[in-house]
Amino acid sequence: MCGIVGYTGPNQAVGYLLEGLKTLEYRGYDSAGVEVVGTDGALHGVKCAGRVSALVERCETANLVGTTGIAHTRWATHGAPTERNSHPHRDCSGRISVVHNGIIENFRELRGYLRRNGHELVSETDSEVIAHLIEDAWEGPSRGDLVGAVRSAVGRLEGSWALAVVCADAPGQIVCARNGSPLVVASTSDGAYAASDVTPLASVTSHVIQLENGQVARLEQTGRVSVFDEHGVEVGAPSSMDIDWDASAATLGGYADFMAKEIAEQPEAIERLLTGRMGSRGVLLDELALSREELAAIDRVYLIACGTSYHVGLIARTLIQTWAHVPVVCDYASEFNYERDVLVTPNTLCVVITQSGETADTLTAARRMRGMGCKVFAITNVLGSTAARESDGVLYVQAGPEVCVASTKAYTAQMVASALLALRLAEARGAMGHEEAERHYRDLCALPDLIREVISRSWQDKRAAAVFRRAHSALFLGRGVNATTAYEGALKLKEISYLHAEAYPAGEMKHGPIALLEPGFPVVAIVPEDRVHDKTVSNIQEVIARGATCVAVATDGDESVASLVEHVLWIPAAPDELLVPIVAVVHLQMLARYVARLRGCDVDKPRNLAKSVTVE
Ligand code: M6R
Repeated sequence: MCGIVGYTGPNQAVGYLLEGLKTLEYRGYDSAGVEVVGTDGALHGVKCAGRVSALVERCETANLVGTTGIAHTRWATHGAPTERNSHPHRDCSGRISVVHNGIIENFRELRGYLRRNGHELVSETDSEVIAHLIEDAWEGPSRGDLVGAVRSAVGRLEGSWALAVVCADAPGQIVCARNGSPLVVASTSDGAYAASDVTPLASVTSHVIQLENGQVARLEQTGRVSVFDEHGVEVGAPSSMDIDWDASAATLGGYADFMAKEIAEQPEAIERLLTGRMGSRGVLLDELALSREELAAIDRVYLIACGTSYHVGLIARTLIQTWAHVPVVCDYASEFNYERDVLVTPNTLCVVITQSGETADTLTAARRMRGMGCKVFAITNVLGSTAARESDGVLYVQAGPEVCVASTKAYTAQMVASALLALRLAEARGAMGHEEAERHYRDLCALPDLIREVISRSWQDKRAAAVFRRAHSALFLGRGVNATTAYEGALKLKEISYLHAEAYPAGEMKHGPIALLEPGFPVVAIVPEDRVHDKTVSNIQEVIARGATCVAVATDGDESVASLVEHVLWIPAAPDELLVPIVAVVHLQMLARYVARLRGCDVDKPRNLAKSVTVE
């Protein structure tokens, strides 16, 4: 979850390192630090608690001069977010410096060992041990060989790591290592670069090398990059990929925050994903990498994900079961990983849904399923992510970089991707004819305009946000597929406005949550025109009868709702009620954003969270 960036080359390092950290800040933002190998042959660094902006301010007076350096933005796992615990961490001599993303599981044992051998550890982090282990190797058999010293150190680690290391006695070099946590490096005519993901590299190159687990890389000032496998043998053709992300896609482009920008980008993202997906013989989804026969044989689908992506899974479950008539299990990855009895058949398809493609729980689940002989298909947004690389097939949702920690455009794009998968399965299994599939495809193609319409009504969300300004809690209700819309709306609200929010299927309210209601208690009900509309209206009546304040998401012209509630967030009628969640949720994204702003919260970087959760 932490962000790492490194540069060695002909230019001063600090400017690029700080710019790189800014683009990676979504990975963690509780403390940050930078270190360069100075022209005087010593390490010079600055660290501080707080955001990258605080580090930038400190660097303005620190005058860090050097053309080789590493930097880090942290999401605390071991030790509070203090200056002492922030990275980079040095060894006892102060000549070796390390930034780390991941968790060293055996760090207690290693700390004991290092202390017994005279090392002085100054932080509470697991990461600091790495600098001291490298020091041991450097002082011993690996003197003068930074790659060897890093290899020796990582040989003693258990857990996950992406590392970048500099040493004052190996000027012009950065050594990187990867196990479990992602790391990409790039060789250019202007030096060599390292980063946790491609975001900071998009401005300097269009081609990156993805380190594999167990690999170590040496970056040199000339721009040369050498990659070594776990035996220390140089890898002839390391795994690489082209980046086709436009670097400007990760900038605000005039919006107040990334959340606003990413909400606005949803129609185009969905259009991109849908373009050219219907052929004369059916839905085109070659990414599945399964023949029609193999698809037809699938008799069970496991959908596994976390957070917002799990909510995509709940919608996907309904779409696949309804359209393709295949039984579907949908589970949180963190729960699935510790379930004893997972019932798979030889023809079970596992689909992992993950915006980042790096969520540790989801990756563990995918590996478990592959270990049981299942084909694994990934729906993800990030090109070349671990989930994409470790799966049998991958569908990129092409939403573009999602920077705001709260997922918006990836959520709606992933639901559309799931719909394509459901249609492909339905056709292959003979559960749906071509004409019917075409009709559903046309319905999907109507979504971008419906979402545009909802976005144009953001003033309704802005007005309704006042209801939540001083609230302590809120209840979200919905039935059927829109119970999931309620879950997602509550998640958005709590993660960016710190307002406690709970979501329930509307019919379940009477079995407990109704006790929460009192005059003024805010309730959000999702009540579109669908088969459960009247039942949900009855639930709204129960809410109103207890004096609660109701905000409803309803279909244009629905007076039965408008006459009951305080505020209506209107949605245009969708061609298929199963697709309503993809439209309705946009109001809840905007509502959460307005509430967060009213409450003075940073919508893009909510406290305690990180965009990509690479620890279990
Ligand atoms: O990258 P992933 O989709 O695997 O991430 C899963 C969750 O961490 C993520 O959806 C999280 O819940 C978001 N912050 C929600 O907005």
